[in-house]
Parts: sequence; structure tokens; C-alpha cells
Amino acid sequence: MDDTIDAVQADRELKNKHRAMWALGDYPALATDIIADLGPALVRAGRIRPGDRVLDVAAGSGNAAIPAALSGASVVASDLTPELFDAGRRRAAEVGAHVEWQQADAEAMPFADDEFDTVMSCVGVMFAPHHQASADELVRVCRPGGTISLLSWTPEGFIGQMFATMKPYAPPPPPGAQPPPLWGREDHVRALFSHRVTDVVATRKTLRVDQFRSPEDFRDYFKTRYGPTIAVYRNIADYPDRVAALDRELADLARRFDYGTGSTVMNWEYLLLTARKW
Ligand SMILES: C[S@@+](CC[C@H](N)C(=O)[O-])C[C@H]1O[C@@H](n2cnc3c(N)ncnc32)[C@H](O)[C@@H]1O
Repeated sequence: MDDTIDAVQADRELKNKHRAMWALGDYPALATDIIADLGPALVRAGRIRPGDRVLDVAAGSGNAAIPAALSGASVVASDLTPELFDAGRRRAAEVGAHVEWQQADAEAMPFADDEFDTVMSCVGVMFAPHHQASADELVRVCRPGGTISLLSWTPEGFIGQMFATMKPYAPPPPPGAQPPPLWGREDHVRALFSHRVTDVVATRKTLRVDQFRSPEDFRDYFKTRYGPTIAVYRNIADYPDRVAALDRELADLARRFDYGTGSTVMNWEYLLLTARKW
């Protein structure tokens, strides 16, 4: 009994830490400035139709939820970090989209079994630490015959490599937590869903990123706006040599992916996967 209470308490503390991390910086600005094309891409892949009831898991400020609502669906945007919802509400109002916002941990969602026609997540559910628990929830809240559609950064792609670069500078992950970019591997996702889904279609694609003037500009943008990067820099703030080393490594990473002439142009790889619940 005590062990169960300790585990529940430890999970609550971990999720509070994750929530605080995603509230750092300005994630909604990054979603708008850099990855705005991904939300509509996921909505198209999920073939969302007017009148569908759609759940966006780990929705942030509504990158996928808002275009889904604009396509006529009835959309719930859920996320661990409600601090991101105000920006989402403003954006939804600007474009005339109606979205319902609800705080929820992807690993234990407050929704009924079989409640949604489509359950989707845009580079979102991949950041919940216990992959099987999240996958079980995605399947549980999707109706039989409904669609689960996921867009996830791959381990080999730019953001996967950015997390690999930051790892030696980050605190050790808590026991049982799995690396986010595993969701970018088709075999991993197939194993998580197992026999509970059919018609799995998975394609690797890339997002063209040309908003940065230089590799250093990319690094400084992420250092001030992206919660996970800000948190890693906070972890090493007392060690100027390590800060300088991470500064160098992040800029070098962007240099390796940069094929622009003049300003920086990169292709960031992701896996787009759709499946139907049995
Ligand atoms: C990279 S952002 C993606 C947000 C949005 N889907 C988009 O495309 O811009 C990752 C999101 O995952 C959310 N998140 C992290 N852990 C979560 C969890 N356990 N349950 C629900 N959301 C979580 C964060 O709060 C953050 O909004």
C-alpha cells in the first residue's frame, strides 16, 4: 500500500516538473514560428471530417486542434500544461475556431472509453514518459473503427539529434521514463498498439525549416523559447565550461543539417503514422 502511494506521489511530482518545463520560455511562439505546418499535415493525414469528434492529445497551444476545428470537427485540445491554453484560445479566436481546452495527462486521461472518432497528437504524446501507458490511453478513448494519427520526431532527425546532444547535460531521467524520439520509430509504435489497431500506415517526412539566419540563431532561439532546452541550460548554469560546450554542440548540430546558402535551411524528419482501432 505504501509503495503504491509513493509511486503515485512520485508520478505527480514528475508530471509537475514536466508541466513547469513546458511552461518555460514561449512554446506557443515556437509552434507558430517554426512548426505551424505540422498541425494541418496531421489533420490531413487523419482525414478528419466535418462533425467528427476529435481529441488532440498533448495539444499545446492547438497547432493541430485549431486546423481540425476549422475543418468542421468538434475538437477537445488536452495537455498537461494549461499555461499554454491562453495563447491557443487567442489564436483560435483570431481564426474563428471553436476548441474545448482541457488539462489532462496523456497517461491517464479524463475521457470515456470509445469517446472520439479521431485521437491525434502532433509531436506531443511522445513527451509523456511512459509510452505503454500513453498508447493504452490513445486506444481506449478512440472508438472502434476510429483513427489514431500521430506525428513524431524521429531519433535520427534533427530534433531527435538535438535531444541526444542535450542528454549529457540534462539530469538523469527518472527510472522507467523512455526517450521521446522512440515514438518516431514505426516498430516501436506498432509494438505499443499491438493487435489493437489495424491498417497502420507510416511514412517518414520532413519539415523544411528556413526561419533561422544562422546555426547560432537557431540555438539562441531554442535557448530562450523551448522549455526542454531552457531546462537543460538551467541544469548546467553553474558550470560556464559546460554551457560553452553545449552552446558549441547545438550550433554545430544545426551546421551539420544546414544545406542553405546564405541563411540556414534544414529538413527536420518526422514519422507520420495513422492506424484504425479494431
Ligand atoms: C512539443 S509540444 C507539442 C504541442 C503541440 N501538439 C504542437 O504541435 O505544437 C509537447 C507538448 O506535450 C505536452 N506534454 C508533455 N507531457 C505530457 C503528458 N504527460 N500529458 C499530456 N501532455 C504532455 C507539453 O505540455 C507540450 O504542450
